[in-house]
Amino acid sequence: MEYSPRAVSDQENTEVDPSRGSFGTRFGFLMAAAGSAVGLGNIWKFPYITGEYGGGAFVLVYLACIVIVGLPLMYAELIIGRRGGSDVFGALRNLTAKSGSPAGAAVSSVAGIMAVLSGLFILSFYSVVAGWAVHFLGVSVGAIPAAPGGAGPTFTALFESFEWSATWHTVFMIITVVVVSGGINGGIEKICSRLMPGLIGILLLMLVYVGVTGGLGDSLEFLFAPNFHKLSMEAVVEALGHAFFTLSLGMGAMVTYGSYLKSDRGIVRDGVTIALIDTGVALLAGTVIFAVVFAGGKEAGAGPGLVFVTLPDLFDSMPGGTVIAIAFFVLLIFAALSSAISLLEVVVSFLVDRFGVSRKAAAAGLGVAIWGLGLLSANSSLTFGIPGALSGFLGEGDKAMLDILDNLTTRVMLPLGGVLIAVTAGWLITKEDREAGFEHLERGPGYAKAWTFLIRFVAPVLVLFVLLVKAEFISLG
Ligand code: PHE
Repeated sequence: MEYSPRAVSDQENTEVDPSRGSFGTRFGFLMAAAGSAVGLGNIWKFPYITGEYGGGAFVLVYLACIVIVGLPLMYAELIIGRRGGSDVFGALRNLTAKSGSPAGAAVSSVAGIMAVLSGLFILSFYSVVAGWAVHFLGVSVGAIPAAPGGAGPTFTALFESFEWSATWHTVFMIITVVVVSGGINGGIEKICSRLMPGLIGILLLMLVYVGVTGGLGDSLEFLFAPNFHKLSMEAVVEALGHAFFTLSLGMGAMVTYGSYLKSDRGIVRDGVTIALIDTGVALLAGTVIFAVVFAGGKEAGAGPGLVFVTLPDLFDSMPGGTVIAIAFFVLLIFAALSSAISLLEVVVSFLVDRFGVSRKAAAAGLGVAIWGLGLLSANSSLTFGIPGALSGFLGEGDKAMLDILDNLTTRVMLPLGGVLIAVTAGWLITKEDREAGFEHLERGPGYAKAWTFLIRFVAPVLVLFVLLVKAEFISLG
């Protein structure tokens, strides 16, 4: 049985607009949501931070963060979206208004505004990095000349060239805007239902390839044999922040997608599926990348240049390397695109649902604004001084815009947004809304109890603790 679309008591939103759109099929929703989660975070960031933080033990902490904080919050966001039936700001406000909790309006407004800002900020630099993948695809197919000396100089030239970075950023933003303009069913669902299976197919083929060319054993050992001597507090903080980023949590992407669902049924299972796909892709990408790196006798800790410098050079020296390089950069672009779409959708739905702007106008206008902001990240020679008080989060000295926005969102805004959403879901909405997704499950009441405990106490306390450590309010010696 289908749930009636929604029960809303917020005065601004008593009129239910059937033209908001919705996902046509459960599969389509899953591909869109998993597409949001699977992105540069899985294929670019996860391998390089795992390399920097020493492998196995870091992976274990990251997996723990996914289960203890990520999964509960995933359900919280999906159910808030589904029951709130609106953009992230509206959905949070609708549900807290319904419960009549006095703190609800304030907390949900702050969470909603911060979520929309996070979407703007993340997409602005995300699109620049995605643009680099487009450049490397061009180099791999031979359409763009590589710099003499291989991938290192090619990447440096790209990174230092505002014109190149800005060009690919522009291309990538245009594609993102076009997809989101097409709407939920006709744009996002349609595209993601093709990108995601394609992405998983490419990854599996690459796994077979490294199975033949070697390095698989070393790679698996590096990823899965924990060495706790290498684990630092810094690594724990990074793992938690990354759990948010990689699952697209803390900024309402899942709230927004959840609002286009037609029923509460299956939300719990869907949340788990999305997290499983996301984690599976990260581990698979890590396995493939480190197999290539170790087979080529290179180091794991190459940092952000791992997939743009180390990897292309190694591809070059492998049999059939050109095809593999092309496959890899197509993979990266697919992953980035389905995530970028969800980032833009959070902000577009905010304008559409709050201010009645048409979808096309909202997508185009926001596309231009985000593109403009992204130009600052495309210009790597532009740096800004970081005030001492913020250096715990943003790093010391002068920083480029791309690093500032990356660190600001991943380390501060997403975790903080996550805390606010957890508090809202745990304390400030009605029990009926809170537990709606568990109702159809056989052991629903038991799961609902466990989830309520995690979302009320464990997730907010853990995340706040890590934030305070990071801000140096708490010192661990
Ligand atoms: N989850 C995406 C990734 O791993 C990034 C993202 C964050 C997308 C937040 C949407 C919202 O690359």
